[in-house]
Amino acid sequence: MATAASAATFSIGTAQTGRSLSPSNPFGFKSNSQVNFSGLKAMSSFSGNETCAALRATFAPKAVKENQNRNHILQPQASYKVALLGAAGGIGQPLALLIKMSPLVSDLHLYDIANVKGVAADISHCNTPSKVADFTGAAELANCLKGVDVVVIPAGVPRKPGMTRDDLFNINAGIVRDLVSAVADNCPGAFIHIISNPVNSTVPIAAEILKQKGVYDPKKLFGVSTLDVVRANTFVAQRKNLRLIDVDVPVVGGHAGITILPLLSKTKPSASFTDEEIEELTVRIQNAGTEVVEAKAGAGSATLSMAYAAARFVESSLRALDGDADVYECSYVQSDLTDLPFFASRVKIGRKGVEAFIPTDLQGLSEYEQKALEALKPELKASIEKGVAFAQKQTVTC
Ligand code: 2OP
Repeated sequence: MATAASAATFSIGTAQTGRSLSPSNPFGFKSNSQVNFSGLKAMSSFSGNETCAALRATFAPKAVKENQNRNHILQPQASYKVALLGAAGGIGQPLALLIKMSPLVSDLHLYDIANVKGVAADISHCNTPSKVADFTGAAELANCLKGVDVVVIPAGVPRKPGMTRDDLFNINAGIVRDLVSAVADNCPGAFIHIISNPVNSTVPIAAEILKQKGVYDPKKLFGVSTLDVVRANTFVAQRKNLRLIDVDVPVVGGHAGITILPLLSKTKPSASFTDEEIEELTVRIQNAGTEVVEAKAGAGSATLSMAYAAARFVESSLRALDGDADVYECSYVQSDLTDLPFFASRVKIGRKGVEAFIPTDLQGLSEYEQKALEALKPELKASIEKGVAFAQKQTVTC
């Protein structure tokens, strides 16, 4: 495990809006908590605030007092507990650091089967609000999970060159089963973010285990497909010479090969693509994970960009829990948007999890996208069924 904006007017359901767009807030709504994980922006909230305040106090005490009052109003309350299972791994370590940077987190629980003490000691020195605690091995898992609001699971083994995500099934399926079983026992109301591959199967496995334990809430189980959106936004911005911060490309389907379907026709701000560009960009986004696996040449798969994307999804979830009414992310969830039981699409996240789907993304698709959508369904269906069959063979103790 230790491996492990331009203004736009469009409709969301019945609501019409026209506001500026950003990647983590694609519909341009106001965030209640004034926090968002758009990379550097989030960092500015805690990179040395105290030092700056102390310096300013020496020269302008009145200004500091006003600033402190203002900060008191703007600073969100650090009040959420997050557990990271697989925290010593390639994704886990940078993800732990990024979550430590969140001003919304009060407690960060780091779990792994080995090597987690050092990671926790290291990260705990950062002067951000959350308290860090480490938990090693199955005997400490229950304590790690008690009272937690969000559980993030990157645990498992990564791909090597030549492998598909499905080749990881035999090892990672059992890891996800055991961890989710502990989540069901210790924090059944938590949001669960599954990163361990193959996500197309591990999310259905998690759902089945939670059902067997009688605590399944489909609104709170998320497959993290944010990296597909992050990659799509990056590649499209580069190709079309757009400001990165403005670009938003919804990515639907699943999180493996052709099941990853970027909806380029829905790109915001609207952009036109030649047929060649559509083919090239789509294939690159679908194979971007493999691009990294090959570049790492046996040393693993995407860890840093995955951590970045997963941290964005954690931050969005925390904002939703904190009462921000305008949180939208693509995620692989139980869904009735298509005939498949699980499907990645843009969803609205609220205090209780998935509040709404955004069916408009799937309407008016281009012919290319419509064909690709039909083509991905058999593979995605098989991956879902494989996960369900695996979980149904297990005996879960209550
Ligand atoms: C990726 O897409 C690791 O699945 C992850 O690179």
